[in-house]
Amino acid sequence: MDVSKLHQRLIEAGQGHLLQYWEELPSDQQLELVDELQGMDFAELNVFFQRAMKGFGLSANQEKVDARMEAVPKNVLGSATRDGDWLQEWEREGFSQISQNKVAVLLLAGGQGTRLGVTYPKGMYDVGLPSHKTLFQIQAERILRLQRSADEHHGTKCTIPWYIMTSGRTMESTKEFFRKHKYFGLRSEDVIFFQQGMLPAMSFDGQILLEEKGRVAMAPDGNGGLYRALGAHRIVEDMEQRGIECIHVYCVDNILVKVADPIFIGFCVKKGADCGAKVVEKTNPTEPVGVVCKVDGVYQVVEYSEITLATAQKRSADGRLMFNAGNIANHFFSLSFLREVVRVNEPQLQHHVAQKKIPYVDTQGQLIKPDKPNGIKMEKFVFDIFQFAKKFVVYEVLREEEFSPLKNADSQNGKDNPTTARHALMSLHHCWVLNAGGHFIDENGTRIPAIPLLKDANDLPIQCEISALVSYSGEGLEKYVNNREFHPPLLIDERGIHELVKNGL
Ligand code: UTP
Repeated sequence: MDVSKLHQRLIEAGQGHLLQYWEELPSDQQLELVDELQGMDFAELNVFFQRAMKGFGLSANQEKVDARMEAVPKNVLGSATRDGDWLQEWEREGFSQISQNKVAVLLLAGGQGTRLGVTYPKGMYDVGLPSHKTLFQIQAERILRLQRSADEHHGTKCTIPWYIMTSGRTMESTKEFFRKHKYFGLRSEDVIFFQQGMLPAMSFDGQILLEEKGRVAMAPDGNGGLYRALGAHRIVEDMEQRGIECIHVYCVDNILVKVADPIFIGFCVKKGADCGAKVVEKTNPTEPVGVVCKVDGVYQVVEYSEITLATAQKRSADGRLMFNAGNIANHFFSLSFLREVVRVNEPQLQHHVAQKKIPYVDTQGQLIKPDKPNGIKMEKFVFDIFQFAKKFVVYEVLREEEFSPLKNADSQNGKDNPTTARHALMSLHHCWVLNAGGHFIDENGTRIPAIPLLKDANDLPIQCEISALVSYSGEGLEKYVNNREFHPPLLIDERGIHELVKNGL
């Protein structure tokens, strides 16, 4: 194989080292490497790198943004707890949109899940619920349930298409998993996979790193890579053909996510919004969560590291933190907004720099595993486009009901891991059973107090799981549980009620 032209191109781009081990590689790896390098636009990469590093340098030297920040104004804010009078109307609107086939969901599932540390896509993870359902299955069943509810409300037959963004590393395994599970009951033509872009990891001086002698260290270009991928795969056009008008975008790792939440959709539609963010209240000033706010009059997410502690601690007259709109990467976009972003705004977005410890092959051919950051990965974020919204709204929900992300392995720390995700779902479902008039009893037949007394993270919640095929958000459970007593673990699914220990399951 003649690689002299490619080599010349690499040398001109300052990346000649990428073929340093060429002669040593077996022919299949030579082919793969050439393939990968041929597909790279080094001029564009160079621009990305320069712009990202410049932005990074500026933000490192910049004053904190405190003085330019403004909390979300009340007139664009809705709340699941304080706007009780409106919820029914918003929900009705949301179901109406769904029943007219105007709503799609878009799942961000292109991450690498490094902290969780599994070799397969995060959506395939089983957090150990009584049913052992994976995150993908839980989400699929929520979509199915919503379609059925919308059909019942409106006497129609509707579809909520599910667009799933994966990365080059996870596409095949994700597709295979869905095929194997028959799309969890959804129609295969309504589950649309598309792939986000990947970018090479680079040293601080712009050299592309090799993770093996014949393999470039590549990483997905962040969940904001969504917008470029939507353009590259003509997804907006697919949505147009299906008559979609509203899109709910969310992350794969939130076990409580209310996929295509009719209340959130109805709220955004009624407010005439082109872009909406669902948030949870940040209650602890030092919690490292980004907050939705305005900076210089424009909506954005400000990270905890970008503000001073004094600002993070500021409180409003009602005693709540002033900057309390905790971002959970759960968004509403109108299709016209998304179309405009893809066509016009995406190229203006610059990558953020994430400094990382990136294993690499050095000039002696040694694999080095650095113990401090030695390079960068370049990423865009899904919320980078808030700035372009003409009508932006924010909807606040309860964390216990809607947000429990799976980020870490159980072994790492006590936060956002399989145990906390499992407990969050079971404790929510426990509440649903209590609200619908059910009770739990212990092994002696004594009723377990209605308010679960979880004193610390080691306390176990009542084991209770309700299939989304039975209930989307706690509705319709009375016929199963009212005035009945159950021994946990309790599982209610479309086949009925299962008291797992009693039945020896
Ligand atoms: P995270 O930033 O938490 O990343 O992604 P991650 O890949 O899940 O985990 P780590 O950081 O490697 O441990 C938040 C959401 O954004 C998606 C993820 O799949 C997750 O749903 N994501 C992230 C993408 O779709 N693409 C990306 O390039 C990065």
